[in-house]
Amino acid sequence: MKKLVILTGAGMSAESGVSTFRDAGGLWEKHRIEDVATPEGFRNNPELVLRFYNERRKQLMIVKPNEGHLDLAELEKNFDVQIITQNVDNLHEQAGSSHVLHLHGELMKSRSTGTGKEIYDVQPGKIEINVGDKCPKGYQLRPHIVWFGEAVPEFENAIKIAEQADIFVIIGTSMQVYPAAGLINYVSARVPIYLIDPNEVAVYNKNVIVIKKGASEGVKELMKQILK
Ligand code: OAD
Repeated sequence: MKKLVILTGAGMSAESGVSTFRDAGGLWEKHRIEDVATPEGFRNNPELVLRFYNERRKQLMIVKPNEGHLDLAELEKNFDVQIITQNVDNLHEQAGSSHVLHLHGELMKSRSTGTGKEIYDVQPGKIEINVGDKCPKGYQLRPHIVWFGEAVPEFENAIKIAEQADIFVIIGTSMQVYPAAGLINYVSARVPIYLIDPNEVAVYNKNVIVIKKGASEGVKELMKQILK
């Protein structure tokens, strides 16, 4: 089976009702990155940071995968589909995708601030992480999110997947955040690259086939082209 590698960003989940970051009305218009998405922000005001991610988690409880997520899962019948997502929601998994690599962490996991290595599932019955919530070893828990200024531990694995792509697809990301946006540079020169986004996204690669549509419609168009 051909390897279909898909890099997704916030726009993938927009039609499910999840806010993007950099569009008008996006999350970074309402919150300062430094305050809620950096280790310094967490040190300065853990309550604020935990509240920000508690809100994201509560929102995740009420949204569902959209047609785009569902169609990507469906494509597993025809391709070895490998999803590399910058999204911290679990909508790809909810849609039934089997191989999902989360570059920026996962909302439904918490992490110990002790060694930073112990990762725990957030239970659907108790989705808030609050100051005073500790891991079994007694350290404060934090969201399992890769904040700005932190290493991206899954990036090496993402590179290996991108290098093996037979078809590479980018969906709903402004390609402004590195190293994620740099993954395109590891795709072999012979490989066609599709880009699905309703807006203009600057990607400097001559192999890019642009599908200027939202995720759901765009994935349907992609299917038409690659299932021919
Ligand atoms: P952005 O908010 O930067 O970009 C969202 C992209 O989705 C834009 O290119 C939009 O045009 C596009 N878009 C909007 N509606 C869409 C739709 N219905 N269908 C498809 N695309 C649509 O989000 P990301 O690129 O994912 O990291 O941001 C990357 C990282 O920056 C995030 O993972 C997050 C953020 O800061 C962390 O918080 C660590």
